[in-house]
Amino acid sequence: MTMIQLHDKTFNIYIPHDKIQNRVKAIATEIQLNHAIPVHFVVVLNGAFMFASDLVKALEMHCKVSFIKVSSYEGLESTGVIKLKTDLATDIKGEHVIIIEDIIDSGNTVEFLMRHLSTKSPKSVEVCTLLFKPDAFQKNYQIDYCAFEIPNDFVVGYGMDYNQMGRNLKDLYVYKS
Ligand code: IMP
Ligand code: MG
Repeated sequence: MTMIQLHDKTFNIYIPHDKIQNRVKAIATEIQLNHAIPVHFVVVLNGAFMFASDLVKALEMHCKVSFIKVSSYEGLESTGVIKLKTDLATDIKGEHVIIIEDIIDSGNTVEFLMRHLSTKSPKSVEVCTLLFKPDAFQKNYQIDYCAFEIPNDFVVGYGMDYNQMGRNLKDLYVYKS
């Protein structure tokens, strides 16, 4: 489909599934080259579930996968207030952690998560994101793995939502006002 309707808004096709898969495989290879021992992926719910699923399937190494849930977005805007909805249920002490995010926009969410996870004494914390909006980024931490840099547009699909709809779409779509 080249166009979809979610609630009151229309979105256009942006990055098709096969292009996403190519980048996911390349990132899996990068992670494997950097890590000889198993890593512990911390998947940021809800948006990163689909990316994380494809990424760990593309990996040819053992790993742990855990989940953490935060929220900051309402509609098309970040509220700027990060809420920890569900904390990790597993220990990360002494482990190499890689945070898996759907998208880094202002950078607030991942900064919050890096601070929060570092209180649990991991050996290292890296960041892996499907999408990155450099024009919106207000922080200066390093993003270790990134599939696509995109302009400051609102996207849905492949895990990401507009007011909870669109997460199941296998392609990425963009809203142009
Ligand atoms: P940040 O805290 O401003 O970096 O925003 C990150 C979070 O906001 C991401 O984890 C997403 O859940 C959400 N988000 C940011 N941009 C978009 C977008 O274009 N579409 C859907 N969700 C987004
Ligand atoms: Mg997210």
